[in-house]
Amino acid sequence: MGDDIARIALLGSGNVGLAVLRRLGEWQGSPLGDRLRLVYAANTRLALRDPAGLDPVRSAALLADAPRSDACSSHADAIRALGTEGVRILVDATADAGTAANHAVCLSAGIHVATACKLAAGTSLDQWRAIRGACAERGTGFGDRATVGAGLPLLRSIRELRAGGDRIHAIAGVMSGSLAWLFHEFAGRTPFSELVRKARDRGFTEPDPREDLSGEDVRRKILILARAAGFEIDSHQVDVESLVPAKLAAVAREDVDDALTLLDEPLAARLAAASFLGCSLRFVARLEGGRARVRLESLCPGDPLHGGGGTDNRVAIWSDRYRNQPLVIQGPGAGAEVTAAALLDDVLHLRSDALRTALAA
Ligand SMILES: NC(=O)c1ccc[n+]([C@@H]2O[C@H](COP(=O)([O-])OP(=O)(O)OC[C@H]3O[C@@H](n4cnc5c(N)ncnc54)[C@H](OP(=O)(O)O)[C@@H]3O)[C@@H](O)[C@H]2O)c1
Repeated sequence: MGDDIARIALLGSGNVGLAVLRRLGEWQGSPLGDRLRLVYAANTRLALRDPAGLDPVRSAALLADAPRSDACSSHADAIRALGTEGVRILVDATADAGTAANHAVCLSAGIHVATACKLAAGTSLDQWRAIRGACAERGTGFGDRATVGAGLPLLRSIRELRAGGDRIHAIAGVMSGSLAWLFHEFAGRTPFSELVRKARDRGFTEPDPREDLSGEDVRRKILILARAAGFEIDSHQVDVESLVPAKLAAVAREDVDDALTLLDEPLAARLAAASFLGCSLRFVARLEGGRARVRLESLCPGDPLHGGGGTDNRVAIWSDRYRNQPLVIQGPGAGAEVTAAALLDDVLHLRSDALRTALAA
């Protein structure tokens, strides 16, 4: 094997994992494809391995069609398949906490990680420090651009500003595609519960929309951005306002649909108060002075987060050079194709950084 070919192990073949395999398939026989070799690909039902390289398109079909089984792939299995030589990269396209918890081990073993999953860097501070420590100790890289904004240049911009000597003063953003859509649509004519059902049917929310409405996903996103901005805060230090009333939180999963109407009255009142002032409701995450909070806000025209549309993410960053007028980044912040592209951007960067480091050694 050429020393410049990176070996890849892919975990997860859901929306994002399959899009990664499709993109790798399109690259076969091109200069980009020649730089990468897929040696392992797995979901919870099937693990495929070939040191000479798997065909991404065929792997996608086999993984998608694999029957339910107890033969779950293991992280150790993927590490073994990557071998011990050359540039090795684990790609995490799961939403699995166990996989996320093992990334520091992987990085300590000299394997780079590219992940779309927020559970590694967006949960406990100890886990984030273990990842950072393993990277520093072994010179490995942790690619996380797919975790927030599905690859929108958010983490990149924050890191480049800091590398250029700026301090990050504040970050504020609409970071959930589903909640962005809901509050862009919510004008008082249609009850909020009806919009939630519509969003769920279009695939904008999780199957149980309470997961989006709880704000927990946004908590992880602002934590990842805050840590990249130099604020080492822990998960419990983010103050999150859940939109789910206690009664709705308590109902069984199968009864959620009927109980969604519990959202209508309180949110109609919030909308009326905002509209009276000519403002709109947005679900916003903010980091300022090292403190983070996530909540429903009433934003007036002129606010940097007021615009946008559809499921777009919109994030404003204030720093030394963007002191009065923030840098505003807006665009599709979810979707399998953009997320897969961001994961593979990370893979290509990790490969070139590793080769540059090896050359300099
Ligand atoms: N979808 C988006 O727009 C988007 C955007 C940004 C970030 N993300 C993140 O990307 C990740 C994947 O999202 P998704 O939408 O593709 O999820 P998904 O459709 O639920 O797919 C998850 C995949 O992970 C597999 N898996 C779970 N545990 C595993 C393990 N231990 N080893 C190997 N495979 C395992 C599942 O296997 P089975 O198929 O056998 O169940 C499934 O194939 C999530 O962390 C999500 O938050 C998604």
